[in-house]
Amino acid sequence: MGGGIAQVVAASGRRVSLHDAAPGAVERGLETMRKSLARLEEKGGAPPDEVLARVEPVDDLVPADLLVEAVVEDAEVKEDVFRRADRTLPAEAILASNTSSIPITSLARVTQRPDRVIGMHFFNPVPVLKLVEIIRARDTSDETANAITELARALGKTPAVANDFPGFVSNRILMPFINEAVWALHDGVAEAEAIDTIARLGFAHPLGPLALADLIGLDTCVAIMEVLHEGLGDAKYAPCPLLRQYVHAGRLGRKTGRGFYEYES
Ligand code: CAA
Repeated sequence: MGGGIAQVVAASGRRVSLHDAAPGAVERGLETMRKSLARLEEKGGAPPDEVLARVEPVDDLVPADLLVEAVVEDAEVKEDVFRRADRTLPAEAILASNTSSIPITSLARVTQRPDRVIGMHFFNPVPVLKLVEIIRARDTSDETANAITELARALGKTPAVANDFPGFVSNRILMPFINEAVWALHDGVAEAEAIDTIARLGFAHPLGPLALADLIGLDTCVAIMEVLHEGLGDAKYAPCPLLRQYVHAGRLGRKTGRGFYEYES
């Protein structure tokens, strides 16, 4: 998602530095951005080279007005990024997280600027989906919330503000829906295709819940459900054992070529 976020920011005319700790990840991100920009150019968007000229790959965090963190859904890893960002970015810069579920208040706590920490949650595929869920942590200032709301609009997105409770709004609704679909598969209520067909054609969803889980990543779904389960303390949020079994088997969805469905490369 980091590449998608960098893409929409660069497409809005702003300069972006793109960093990933994993070797080759930035290059793969740039390739995905190029393909997406080519599709958008056909519909009147800017030429890919023009947008990509505003994206600079960097080897480490660099000073900037805003950081948007989009690393793995692991609180310790995110806290480490926020500690480093707090040391590297100027004191007035805003530190935002694209997390799906990790409490923003706990990320704010590891910095010296809790008033300038906020959730800026994009949706996949970032260049296409219009929503940015903005999450105010305990001490996020009005100034920070207003700045990020304005930025989301400037990126062509529609902001919606939520408070910092487990799963915010989006995943508090989405994950029980996905989990219940996995339970339906587990209980033998229907095959995966039938479950997804019912959601697509019955509720006019673009993807069924199992195909959507494959898109999000089954490991990410489990991680988000664990945050909901622990944070809200209700057994109804516990991940279905079948979902865990897929993750143990390395069937993580599209990114590994297999989840509830099989994918070509
Ligand atoms: N970049 C640019 N354009 C893209 C694109 C991309 N990455 N992906 C799709 N498009 C464009 C296509 O070019 C096409 O444009 P036209 O209509 O002008 O031809 C349009 O989007 C539709 O694409 P397709 O025809 O290829 O396929 P589709 O109709 O299935 O739409 C989709 C693709 C928009 C991704 C659609 O399947 C969809 O909305 N899926 C659901 C996605 C979703 O629910 N995402 C949320 C996941 S949850 C999350 O991200 C956050 C979390 O916390 C877990």
